[in-house]
Amino acid sequence: MKYDVVVIGSGPGGYPAALRACELGLKVALIEKDAFLGGTCLNVGCIPSKTLLHFTELYAHFPYDLCGETKGTLDFAMLQKRKEKVICDIRSQLQTLFKGHHIDTIHGRAEIISPHHVRVNGQEIEVRSIILATGSEPIALPFLPFDEKQVVSSTGGLALEKVPESMIVIGAGVIGIELASVYARLKSKVTIIELAASICGGIDSSLQKGLLTELKKQGIEFHLSSRLLSGKVEEGKITVQIQTSQELKLQAEVVLVAVGRRPLTKNLGLEQVGVNLDPSGHVAVNSTFQSSVPSIYAIGDLIDGPMLAHRASLEGVAVAEIIAGKKVSVEYMSLPSVIYTYPEAASCGMTEEEIKKTGRPYKASISFLKANPRAYASQETDGFVKVIVDSKTAVLLGVHILAPHASELISIAMVAIHERMTASELGKLPFPHPTLSEAIKEACLMV
Ligand code: NAI
Repeated sequence: MKYDVVVIGSGPGGYPAALRACELGLKVALIEKDAFLGGTCLNVGCIPSKTLLHFTELYAHFPYDLCGETKGTLDFAMLQKRKEKVICDIRSQLQTLFKGHHIDTIHGRAEIISPHHVRVNGQEIEVRSIILATGSEPIALPFLPFDEKQVVSSTGGLALEKVPESMIVIGAGVIGIELASVYARLKSKVTIIELAASICGGIDSSLQKGLLTELKKQGIEFHLSSRLLSGKVEEGKITVQIQTSQELKLQAEVVLVAVGRRPLTKNLGLEQVGVNLDPSGHVAVNSTFQSSVPSIYAIGDLIDGPMLAHRASLEGVAVAEIIAGKKVSVEYMSLPSVIYTYPEAASCGMTEEEIKKTGRPYKASISFLKANPRAYASQETDGFVKVIVDSKTAVLLGVHILAPHASELISIAMVAIHERMTASELGKLPFPHPTLSEAIKEACLMV
């Protein structure tokens, strides 16, 4: 078999790469080791977690007091079934898309045996260019290995058969916070242990503080600046020992380990063909996603940068265009990030801490949801919009939102930052009234 492009991995990096390469007239095969297309994002990541987050949020915030009813319970088995249906429906949409494009989909484990040859299911494929899009995997703790029942990664955490009475979450990053929210809303007693002094490292400190306050109000307990000393798994319970201001023993029915993910570079044959990794274990690439072997490209979680599905998709499209001979580059400045908690936390551009480090003069303003009529009408007034601009040019440098639907609101900032708009240019636009988006307008007009 001979192809122009072989894409390895069918996640949000790999499948757009395959589709774009095909649209550009290249003969494409896509190899996926799992039984289903879609990768981590569709099968055990973004999509299932957003389904659980959406319905548990409705459950937790439904104003039963207005309906004169007492609060019912949520059928967790039904919710899990709904989540599976969502995944299955999107899988079949993807399959249809692939069939329509006449892309050869091969299920099997791919191994690169030369710069122009890939082996899968015992067959050798000759190829001009290879795109590696194998993504990442959860990092395990040596003394608490995953059994995906009692000690779970995000994969097991999304597939629990029942709501545990208690859950310890190790790591207050995005995965830890999102899954903690799901189970806290379902009345699990959730305790988060975090090594650092703040949650969600890397986001603007105003969001870190605001989100921590909100999550505590929802009953989640936090041990920050806490080192995990040991973990012991017994039938029905797990005991962990932590060092905070003192030594503490904590017990729970389930432990979720969410201490980060690492690029999936194992068993691909990278070493034998001479693909170099960088010191953090990512595939080292140049600005055109080309590895140390010119015919082999890598994108998404495999290369250095934020592990975000939409970033992988941008890179997937870009690398296909590069292979097809187009001159393209990916613009990362306006890449948004979202934490799907309640309220949601979303960012675009630089954080205040990053700007301070550059020494660039800046101004910041905050518009609180308490002053936003729509937020008031729906009684969702916890949150804010923070806008940061260059103090000389007034060009927007960063927008940070803690609000319901921040995941949707942030796209306004994405466009404005991409277009290098000033705060007053954005603030003068006719935002609809009454909407939460007016908090962005207000923050822009105040800065
Ligand atoms: P993370 O890197 O976001 O957070 C891991 C946290 O664990 C850090 O705060 C770290 O200080 C802490 N930690 C590490 N070792 C520890 C220990 N021994 N004890 C206590 N705390 C410890 O990693 P996470 O949450 O696993 O997510 C992995 C990747 O997936 C991230 O890059 C994330 O951005 C991405 N992701 C993005 C989502 C989104 O955009 N909504 C959703 C889910 C994942």
